[in-house]
Amino acid sequence: MFTNVWYVAERSASLSAEPIKVRMLGCDFVLFRDKTGKAACLSNVCPHRGANLAGGKCRDDGSVACPYHGWRFNRDGQCVRIPSQTQPDKIELPQAKVDAYPVIEKNGLIWVFLGDEPEQAAPPFDIPEVGDSKYRQIDVNEVWNCSYERAVEIDLDYVHSHFVHGAFGEEHRARPPDHVVEDFSEHGFATHLIAKSQPNRGLWRLLRKEGKGVPSYLKFKLPGFCRRVQVFIGGEGSKMHFAFYHFATPIDDEHVQNRLLFFRAFMTHPFFDKTNIKRNEQAIREDRKICEEIYPKSPTVARDWEVQTEHDHLVGAFHRILRGMREKGWQIDAKARREMAADNKPLLIPSPARRKTPAGWAFPAVPRIAAKAVRAQAAE
Ligand code: FES
Ligand SMILES: [Fe+2]
Repeated sequence: MFTNVWYVAERSASLSAEPIKVRMLGCDFVLFRDKTGKAACLSNVCPHRGANLAGGKCRDDGSVACPYHGWRFNRDGQCVRIPSQTQPDKIELPQAKVDAYPVIEKNGLIWVFLGDEPEQAAPPFDIPEVGDSKYRQIDVNEVWNCSYERAVEIDLDYVHSHFVHGAFGEEHRARPPDHVVEDFSEHGFATHLIAKSQPNRGLWRLLRKEGKGVPSYLKFKLPGFCRRVQVFIGGEGSKMHFAFYHFATPIDDEHVQNRLLFFRAFMTHPFFDKTNIKRNEQAIREDRKICEEIYPKSPTVARDWEVQTEHDHLVGAFHRILRGMREKGWQIDAKARREMAADNKPLLIPSPARRKTPAGWAFPAVPRIAAKAVRAQAAE
């Protein structure tokens, strides 16, 4: 898993006046709203005696109060009140602070930057379909019992659509139409292709022209580990199109929180939701079964043992982006983390404040694989 990425931590609608606990990258965080209603994210471990901050309360001064002895922490992670002191507002303990993470809330999602180098990362992007009356939006949230990497890969894989979802008819049609990796950068890439449409049956007769081909556009965006897919079932530029966004937030090495946003520009009346949800849920179930049974369960440090075919180039591009982050020293060292965890001391995701002030924190940061070690390994 990687630090220095913007992740989708929660949907806006799920965060109201009470703090909530969210687990990401194998650590717990507290999300809350300050007095202006702005979302904030802190490490969930109270530096006093380790209590669960999310079990506390939001206070009028915009802080979150620990449920154990009432210490209050503001959105910057500073302790602003220790009620049991003679002078509760005079805080002189240097370690009375928690990691605070940058937060951006937009389009109904709460994004949190988990790392210490925000200036290096691609920021959260806009989702123009949200609130656009041309579209009907449906949301799905699901935890899968697998690494987030597996959840990303399956959306980048054209061939699985035939074998997992029974798409495209005969087996020879599982071979993808030509498509290449476009606009590759350390923050994502794109591709587009024109699938041969299947013979129209039932309702599809109304929706698409026979034999026209179905253009689809896919983007992988590193923020949120997001795949955006847009499919013009009625032909290029047609009103008959849908788009979906699939965000994958790593809960830990073996669990991923999937958040999907489906937008359809046709049959937008809520009456059609049921059929739409049923169809999407079936596809999600089929993907999930495959992903939860892939070996090994946890991501390998460098997934360099797979047999790649010419049609695995999108998955290969995704792995290249992961390699790039590994070379920057952003990958959490799972082995060292397990060893350190034997001491039972909480290990936290380092926040930007740790880079400015490395000392004076109650709990250590998770170990990461140093960029140097990665380069030495690559040179071997
Ligand atoms: S454990 Fe949080 S205030 Fe004591
Ligand atoms: Fe799928």
